[in-house]
Amino acid sequence: MTDTLVKLALGVMGRLRPRPAMGDAITTIELPAPERRGGMPLMEALASRRSSREFARDALPLPLLSNLLWAAWGANRPDGGRTAPSALNAQEIELYAALPAGAYRYDAATHALHLAAATDIRRVTGYQDFVDEAPLDLVYVADHRRMALVPVAQRESFASAAAGAIAQNVYLFAAGNGLATVIRAWIDRDAIAKALGLAHDQQVLLSQTVGYPAKR
Ligand SMILES: Cc1cc2nc3c(=O)[nH]c(=O)nc-3n(C[C@H](O)[C@H](O)[C@H](O)COP(=O)(O)O)c2cc1C
Repeated sequence: MTDTLVKLALGVMGRLRPRPAMGDAITTIELPAPERRGGMPLMEALASRRSSREFARDALPLPLLSNLLWAAWGANRPDGGRTAPSALNAQEIELYAALPAGAYRYDAATHALHLAAATDIRRVTGYQDFVDEAPLDLVYVADHRRMALVPVAQRESFASAAAGAIAQNVYLFAAGNGLATVIRAWIDRDAIAKALGLAHDQQVLLSQTVGYPAKR
């Protein structure tokens, strides 16, 4: 809670900033091919879906991260279709992965992560304490440049609906893989945009923490 108050105060002053990266930030992380079979039956995953806010610090192994990102917002068809819907198939959501070694943008077409910021921005992704130390904070960004065909008044709500669908994919993947997760709107959007170096037409919508549950 103390950290939350400190972050709130820093946020008000516009000084909520990333920490130095832990380790070398690789420019491109080529993810191993995702597993598209098996896993927990859908009804069982739905039965155990929940929000959790207590995380272990342990890193997520690369194959698990690969499966998670593909489940979230990967390309699941030869025509570039994705695991979550988007209005007019605009695919306007950009998914960023804040890891200890850097913040990365997920590229579904190549199933790779591209470095966006060579800093540890996890702390900046939300006011709640656990975001600092959990191994992964996802950030959902709406790229308004991809929504030219969507009426302006609808863009934010359509993008939020698409982000919600991706977030639920993450929830179900987490439920099926013994992971904890929580979607979060209590975030400092300006601080995140600054930390990621976003353009003015890239809008931060939500964040979502993922990790192993805290050991009891
Ligand atoms: C749009 C949205 C924003 C949310 N923001 C936060 C948040 O900032 N922090 C948090 O701890 N939980 C947040 N939650 C999670 C809700 O608190 C949680 O889903 C709700 O309490 C129901 O619990 P359950 O997910 O375990 O069913 C958010 C959920 C949604 C859908």
